[in-house]
Amino acid sequence: MSDQDKAAKRAQWEEINRAKAAAKQKEQDAPENAEPRASATHKQFQTVRGTRDLLPLDTALWNHVEQTAHEVFGTFGFGEIRPPIFEATELFARGVGGDTDIVGKEMYTFVDRLEKLPNPSSLEAYGAFIEQAEELIATEELPATTANRLALDRMKEIWDQGNVFKGQDEAPIEKVDQEVLEELHTIVVLKDSMELGQSISLRPEATASVCRAYIEHNMQQLPQPVKLYYMGPMFRRERPQKGRYRQFYQIGAEILGGPDAPAIDAELIEMLMTFFDKCGLQGTELSINSIGHAADNCRRGYVAKLREELLKVKDKLGTDSQRRIETNPLRVLDSKLEHEQPIIATLPRIADHLCDECKTHYAAVKRDLDLRGVKYHENWRLVRGLDYYMRTTFEITAQGLGSQNAVCGGGRYDGLVELLGGPPTKGIGFAIGEDRLILSLQEGGKAPAEQGPDVFIAWMGQNAYATAIRAAKTLRSAGFRVELPATELKFGKALERASKLGSRFALILGDNEIQSGEWTLKNLANAEQQKLTEQALLEYLQKL
Ligand code: HAM
Repeated sequence: MSDQDKAAKRAQWEEINRAKAAAKQKEQDAPENAEPRASATHKQFQTVRGTRDLLPLDTALWNHVEQTAHEVFGTFGFGEIRPPIFEATELFARGVGGDTDIVGKEMYTFVDRLEKLPNPSSLEAYGAFIEQAEELIATEELPATTANRLALDRMKEIWDQGNVFKGQDEAPIEKVDQEVLEELHTIVVLKDSMELGQSISLRPEATASVCRAYIEHNMQQLPQPVKLYYMGPMFRRERPQKGRYRQFYQIGAEILGGPDAPAIDAELIEMLMTFFDKCGLQGTELSINSIGHAADNCRRGYVAKLREELLKVKDKLGTDSQRRIETNPLRVLDSKLEHEQPIIATLPRIADHLCDECKTHYAAVKRDLDLRGVKYHENWRLVRGLDYYMRTTFEITAQGLGSQNAVCGGGRYDGLVELLGGPPTKGIGFAIGEDRLILSLQEGGKAPAEQGPDVFIAWMGQNAYATAIRAAKTLRSAGFRVELPATELKFGKALERASKLGSRFALILGDNEIQSGEWTLKNLANAEQQKLTEQALLEYLQKL
């Protein structure tokens, strides 16, 4: 395909995408004015708000970015982990923090539940039912909560006493004694009190999942620290806009266990910047900060002081910040409201309130980043929106992203594994917003060359068809991209199709070629043709 054809094809895709996005936006802005879609009987489905399809022109770049992550992270000794896409809601509530926006209002949560447990129809069936409930709890089909266990124990107790049921085991329910009926009623009440399902959430991030996996698989027994990375979709019910989606993708890495040596923080950040560099991301800016640790002589003391100062200026703040004075004063520092900026500039700064150890740790992280040639600037307002952070926090912005310009965020979270029920464990990590990374690369003009087929096989006649199949098999197993048309095309049409697909060569197989055993290979860029045997063709292509 000529550069001109490629540009035309890309423009065509972009036009289609633009039109689709505009129609969707129009509908979201004012549903009553939207163009009528197909009639109700022929409903045309569209992606759900905040989600999107990634089409082949885009996925080439996505694959390239992901491949680069595999390679770069591998060179730093990280192994890939693939946690599930949904987990117990409690994991995120505890891990990410109940007061965060993510847990408070953005998670996709549902109850994964059994249908109602049926009422047993005979006395015997009660026994079977109790056995079944025990089995369901053991296999966690029914949540193994304390309430469910207590209910089960009580049911078993009643059943095992057994005397009241003696001699009536086979009796239909209507025929049993009053005394027995009362006991059965208690069992039914207990049964109906059981929790039938577990609350599940689509993961809004993966750090909590990785910590859960570290604990679940006893990774503290492995040589420490354990270095893991992941990539995949995350889900947050945010207001969609450029660079912000409800299903978005992250590429993240976590280091768990081992010491909290500043070199670990610095090497992780170095890896991140190396990755961005390899991707060709432009205009990156790394901001760092230390938010200390939760102690009175460190962050807790600072937060108290901050709250005190914020209360003095409460009337001048917006409603969100006013609320946060009580719930989480640190988040006021995140505010983007224009009129709050001069006020925030006068607030006390955490760097002046860090304890000696956190101060020393932060200074050492900065020294180590200098040693590695990693450029950064300090941002005392960088507190991050998740509860688990302590000490080092960092964020990277990139060009071309508008207001959603944070392409990566991360930090240290030494208490998280313990909070989730594991042993005391140090931890630090980051997550890159892959959608934003791709957007920034595209805005910077980066798009890997579109890959058309290497060889388009223009076969003519049934004799040639068998040979064409063989040629396709040979070339594909040698790693070439081959297009074998499913139906016979006239010579001119075949060459036109090959050219539209952006194929480098057309392999022409007609009666002459089959008879002579010499195949015609046409270079579509310069129209040169040559005759080659099957073996010579393979050798020729492999040498290119
Ligand atoms: P986060 O700051 O919530 O951190 O998200 C990391 C990155 O994910 C953001 O900088 C942004 O690029 C991207 N992102 C977040 N929400 C969206 C969205 N709705 N649409 C598109 N991109 C989005 C975390 O998730 C932490 N787990 C990072 C971490 C790992 N900290 C330690 N280890």
